Amino acid sequence: MTETFIHPQAIVEKGATIGPSTRVWAFAHILAGAVIGRDCDICDHVFIENQVKVGDRVTIKCGVQLWDGVTLEDDVFVGPNATFTNDRFPRSKHYLDPYPQTVVRQGASIGANATILPGLTIGREAMVGAGAVVTRDVPDRAIVAGVPARIVGYVGAHRRPQVSLADYAALGEGVYDTGVRGVKVYRQKEIRDLRGCLSVGEFASSLPFLPRRYYVIYGVPSREVRGEHAHKTLHQFLVCLAGQCALVVDDGERREEIVLCSPTVGVYTPPMIWGVQYKFSPDAVLLVLASDPYDADDYIREYDEFLVMLATHRSALTS
Ligand code: TYD
Repeated sequence: MTETFIHPQAIVEKGATIGPSTRVWAFAHILAGAVIGRDCDICDHVFIENQVKVGDRVTIKCGVQLWDGVTLEDDVFVGPNATFTNDRFPRSKHYLDPYPQTVVRQGASIGANATILPGLTIGREAMVGAGAVVTRDVPDRAIVAGVPARIVGYVGAHRRPQVSLADYAALGEGVYDTGVRGVKVYRQKEIRDLRGCLSVGEFASSLPFLPRRYYVIYGVPSREVRGEHAHKTLHQFLVCLAGQCALVVDDGERREEIVLCSPTVGVYTPPMIWGVQYKFSPDAVLLVLASDPYDADDYIREYDEFLVMLATHRSALTS
């Protein structure tokens, strides 16, 4: 079916653009300037203002208002009674020009009754939990929950059972593959005696490269997220010397979350792996050994750019 369906009790103002196969249900009201794509579901009691763009295959459940400045990209889901805002300091009869732009990127979902503050970007395929109050941009594929919303996970990043907290003690000395291309978990030698514990790795016999730099991450305020980038040529080796933190490693196809909570365990990440570090305990001290001096040009900071570079990299290898 390619025909647009407008319920007889809906109000679609003259001039509004509604794409083919889109269904607008009862008591929805769409203002003249709104642009809505194809195959969308606009459920009962949705209100859409003029400066609003909605992509294709978007679902907007009952009781949602999209104010001027809101853009929903393709395949977005907005749960019932989720609330958008477009003024950080609203006063009666005061109007902004222009309104802050709120963008919900492709494939993201917003849970029922969540509130999105003005001018934020909800990343591609991100998941906002029901009732969350989102006060900051949400990175691509992040799962956020709570008030204020915090990152609690990444879509598709499954924790590896063999490196979970409980299993660390059981891991014997050795190098373990992960499901992510080239990323390896190193369980280093540990010597325990009455005087305490000692853990050691030797370059380059038991460690994957010769480092030319180290840096240490510590004092991370609760639940902050670091990383969110890949490196073009840099090799890194990460060891959590105290406390604990979680790493998400992603090769563009597979994604895993690894909890680091022992100075005897290191994670090796080769170039072209997207990495995130988060869930730092207050006492966490993360040591990172790096194969080269700091070079800002070695960073890839946009996930989309990372995917494009990976595709180019692969086609160069196969041609
Ligand atoms: P960045 O790598 O962006 O941190 P993270 O990935 O943990 O969020 O670095 C933060 C800042 O520190 C940035 O201004 C660059 C600087 N920096 C150096 O000067 N040298 C280094 O070796 C590193 C890793 C960072």
